[in-house]
Amino acid sequence: MSSQTIPVDPFDYVVFGGTGDLSERKLLPALYHRQIAGQLSEPTRIIGASRADLDDDGFRTFARDALSRHLKSGEFDEKEVSIFLGRLHYVSVDATSDRGWDAMAALLASGQDRVRAFYLAVGPSLFGDICDRISSHDLINRNTRIVVEKPIGRDLASARSLNDTIGRAFAEEQIFRIDHYLGKETVQNLMALRFANALYEPLWNSAHIDHVQITVAESVGLEGRAGYYDRAGALRDMVQNHILQLLCLVAMEAPPSVEAEAVRDEKLKVLRALRRIDSSNASKVTVRGQYRAGASAGGAVGGYLDELGDANSNTETFVAIKVEIDNWRWAGVPFYLRTGKRMAERASEIVINFKPIPHSIFDGSAGQIIANQLVIRLQPDEGVKQWIMIKDPGPGGMRLRHVPLDMSFAQSFSVRHPDAYERLLMDVIRCNQTLFMRRDEVEAAWKWIDPILTAWDETAQPCQGYTAGTSGPTNAIALIERDGRTWHESR
Ligand code: BG6
Repeated sequence: MSSQTIPVDPFDYVVFGGTGDLSERKLLPALYHRQIAGQLSEPTRIIGASRADLDDDGFRTFARDALSRHLKSGEFDEKEVSIFLGRLHYVSVDATSDRGWDAMAALLASGQDRVRAFYLAVGPSLFGDICDRISSHDLINRNTRIVVEKPIGRDLASARSLNDTIGRAFAEEQIFRIDHYLGKETVQNLMALRFANALYEPLWNSAHIDHVQITVAESVGLEGRAGYYDRAGALRDMVQNHILQLLCLVAMEAPPSVEAEAVRDEKLKVLRALRRIDSSNASKVTVRGQYRAGASAGGAVGGYLDELGDANSNTETFVAIKVEIDNWRWAGVPFYLRTGKRMAERASEIVINFKPIPHSIFDGSAGQIIANQLVIRLQPDEGVKQWIMIKDPGPGGMRLRHVPLDMSFAQSFSVRHPDAYERLLMDVIRCNQTLFMRRDEVEAAWKWIDPILTAWDETAQPCQGYTAGTSGPTNAIALIERDGRTWHESR
């Protein structure tokens, strides 16, 4: 099976935080892959910008190193790498003073007609300064876009103020708010599954679906991000953005097209229909957890507090929530969400649990009839499994068996699965906003999250400990089992 690559217009990508972690691990490798795929047109440039005192050659050395460390074996091609490095430039700028901005302006002036994208791979505290200087140095032309990474705020008020800050310099159509989950192949596949098949949509409602589970389990711990993570916690870090976006794609009505506004309007309606969780119900429908010492990826690992070096932190590294969506389609269908660090394995999936059949024509000897399940595996081992009941083959009467119609994407398609950033970086150049979050979506998500955070504060809802390498705290199991249901465990 072959994939199709459509070249994009020549561009200048200016990456603020060009020598940082995101640039090293994700952005540079993603742009390199797009070059290999033949998607970059000439003359395209990638301009690193940061405070570090480097020149073009220094940045090229940094990038070569990044590629050799983060590409998979066989992907580092000396000839392609040298073409790629030739695209790189570097400007040492200070976001908080005028140092370096004239040099940036001079460099960009030589690419007036190109698409120009500024990528803010820096902490949000610098967004305002950078936007103001981009604007005051007249670096915004009609082909300019700005890309911002999460966290977009830590509550509704700070998100609004950040959005206002960016909005002072850029129009909403120029602002690309990245949620990298939306760039994942299998997440986009959700749209294909729902809206390119006649099969599911008639069943996709409370008449036929019992409940939905969304799990994003990680095996990693803090990964050197203690300062950020301890102030955020799992609710802000994963639920406010990635998991709510997944929920929106599962729950939204069919948009009239995949055009950005059409899709984002539908997602927004879902966010606005989420039933409020506050001090009156948070302890019943939310569970907070924090990992203790245990084992992960075959080795012993310390607990969160040891990793953090602070014995008093009450930050959650795990959260489970029972969510209700108050609209006609989903009334009475709970969505159980959970995410955590240092869990048994890295596994993200969406499980649609259909209702049981209304009446069985088989007698007890046929065995139990298990309700259908659709399991959309987001990562790793991307694929879709539709669990159905069949007759056990062979003689001996009617015995029923629960089996998956199993489509593993790796086995079915021999194409490489591009990283989410590859798709998203090119969508910025194409000016396609469908997979990016609009301002009102981000704010609607915070509007739902804020009362949960307040409730946790007001009621001092504790974190329950869970052993690293397990599937989370026992309260999370109780959360779903109280309703007579169980978490789907992938293996
Ligand atoms: C990030 C979070 O947005 O997503 C991290 O800040 C998390 O804490 C990461 O580890 C997970 O992304 P992925 O693509 O590895 O599932």
